[in-house]
Amino acid sequence: MYSRKIRTGIDEVGIQDWGRRLFDSLIPLPDGTSYNSYLIKGSAKTAIIDTVDPAFAEIYLENLSELKNIDYIITLHSEQDHSGTLPMLMKQYPSAELICSPKAKDLLIDHLMLDPAKIRTMDDGELLSLGDKSLQFIHTPWVHWPETMVAYLAEDRILFSCDFLGSHSAGSELFDNDDPAVMEAAKRYYAEIMMPFKSAIRANLKKVRELDFDLVAPSHGPLWNHPEKILTAYEDWVSDRVSNKVVIPFISMHGSTARMVDYFSKELIKRKVEVELFDLTVTDIGKLAMALVDAATIVIGSPTVHMGPHPFVANAAFLANALKPKARYAAVIGSYGWATKMVDGVLGLLPNLKVEVLGSVVCKGLAKDADFAELSKLADLIAEKHKALI
Ligand code: FEO
Repeated sequence: MYSRKIRTGIDEVGIQDWGRRLFDSLIPLPDGTSYNSYLIKGSAKTAIIDTVDPAFAEIYLENLSELKNIDYIITLHSEQDHSGTLPMLMKQYPSAELICSPKAKDLLIDHLMLDPAKIRTMDDGELLSLGDKSLQFIHTPWVHWPETMVAYLAEDRILFSCDFLGSHSAGSELFDNDDPAVMEAAKRYYAEIMMPFKSAIRANLKKVRELDFDLVAPSHGPLWNHPEKILTAYEDWVSDRVSNKVVIPFISMHGSTARMVDYFSKELIKRKVEVELFDLTVTDIGKLAMALVDAATIVIGSPTVHMGPHPFVANAAFLANALKPKARYAAVIGSYGWATKMVDGVLGLLPNLKVEVLGSVVCKGLAKDADFAELSKLADLIAEKHKALI
């Protein structure tokens, strides 16, 4: 049996998915991911926390096959990368009880057709004894589904957090060991998965802050043996603080919008405003999502395609709208051939953003002196707004 020892009676028995490059058929995974699964042997009972993506069910089950008995199979989150192997695991251990949150029960029945008679739900704060170890379940809804919860093992000071505080990366190192690459992966993960749920996460951080732990064991990525770092990072990401930064996702068909973006970004830099440009023909959307975590302003650059925004811009705007970043200001710049409704098209895709629209600069064909002057004025306005904010 392959396992990685965490503490006495606690092992990680999950899967490293080194080759996965896309999650939810949407999210880039430059470093793969892991599906962590935890085996906890108490003096009286044995439990598993979370399973693995069903693509790895055979390897996972074979690995566990030396285990004669499991009393509790705990699922902290019903998404299939953690729950998808539950039906097979329950078949392998027919006497095991499935433990989940009350909201997870229906989801597990609908998604995996599990037998309701085998499912036991845990209320917020409820304890499950394994003998000399006990798990306390804390409901932490909306990280990032409605049914999510965490498990706290007080005797070993470990918080099992599933997606919450996790990171997508495959690796042989069990712990974060203060590696900045792990924090980078965690920020990417937050940006892509958690960012729309900032207020719920704020409340959940307060709940877990009341617990005394020195190790966070998520179900993706390394375990945090420096938990303060990830908790503080999350508290910053969900706070109202924004940076003196403008994120500019753009595309250009014949160079006109690109020239505007180039000029405009330099005008911002001259005014001591940080800029991050994303050419949407080559952009890793995970990097764009990360830039949106704390940017004060988003400026979208688009040419006009059949009167509206370029479809790649529409795609990025749709994504930004879904991620609900905390940006305070927005603007649109770009060009057109003979007529345009591009600006309205872009802004219409951003109803979730609580931003003040600072204006737009749109030119026919190539930008002229008057257009560049308008871009300079927009840069002035952004710099002034940022000064008041930061
Ligand atoms: Fe890792 Fe929401 O699943």
